[in-house]
Amino acid sequence: MADKEGKRIVLHGPEGFEAIRKACRLAAEILDYIGPFVVPGVSTGHLDQLIETFQRERGGIPATIGYHGYPKASCISPNHVVNHGIPSDDKRLAEGDIVNIDVTTIVDGWYGDNSRMYFVGDKIGVKARKLVDLTYRCMMAGIAQARPGNHLGDIGHAIQTLAEANRCSVVRDFGGHGIGQVFHDAPHVDHFGKPGTGVLLQPGMVFTVEPMINAGRPEVKILSDGWTTVTRDRSLSAQFEHQIGITEDGCEIFTLSPAGFTQPPYGAAA
Ligand code: MF3
Ligand code: CO
Ligand code: CO
Repeated sequence: MADKEGKRIVLHGPEGFEAIRKACRLAAEILDYIGPFVVPGVSTGHLDQLIETFQRERGGIPATIGYHGYPKASCISPNHVVNHGIPSDDKRLAEGDIVNIDVTTIVDGWYGDNSRMYFVGDKIGVKARKLVDLTYRCMMAGIAQARPGNHLGDIGHAIQTLAEANRCSVVRDFGGHGIGQVFHDAPHVDHFGKPGTGVLLQPGMVFTVEPMINAGRPEVKILSDGWTTVTRDRSLSAQFEHQIGITEDGCEIFTLSPAGFTQPPYGAAA
């Protein structure tokens, strides 16, 4: 099985699925754990340190540290930052911010990748709330198309249709990705597209669905640090990410929250 550039797509068996479950469970536990620390005034550098310590104490290795020179254990992307925000002790979150936290684990050589949005404080503007809710629903609408016989284009189409029906836009410059014993593997998963096009989904494929949805236009730019991506029009951007595996009759979401969290506001951790 190959993607459209001819790159090989790995089909994972039961042992692979079991190993991926472990890595993804830790990745989701980290996102459950960090929620109560996301409060006005906290620095994103402090959040990253908590994330790194929690992960290492549980035997995981942060996949992002050293990845193409990336320095931190997480990506923390507030407001108009689309993705790959580098945590910093100088960057403090403020009341009313919305922020994505993206964490990738390595457990026994297998990768787990997920992200969620968080509310900073309780005075979140209506537009921001709506964008976060829409982005969550976009991710789940894409995942609902993930089954054998469907194509990657069905996932992208579902996401794009829902986003644009709500006068928001889909970021084109980044997509989901195959993942297993490699962090970013084939196939590339666009969050836009046409039904029935692209890679035919087969049992054993494992990839992420991680739409970035902008309240304004879809164009982005990368800042001079080489990582931080922002919306060109400075409109708000939101993202959620799950890692999934195609099964015989649908898909398994590996990164479901053990505490039962879906989208913010999150209650007290179970
Ligand atoms: N976790 C991100 C993703 O979903 C990738 C981050 S790579 C980094 O694919 F180097 F920016 F950390
Ligand atoms: Co990813
Ligand atoms: Co990620």
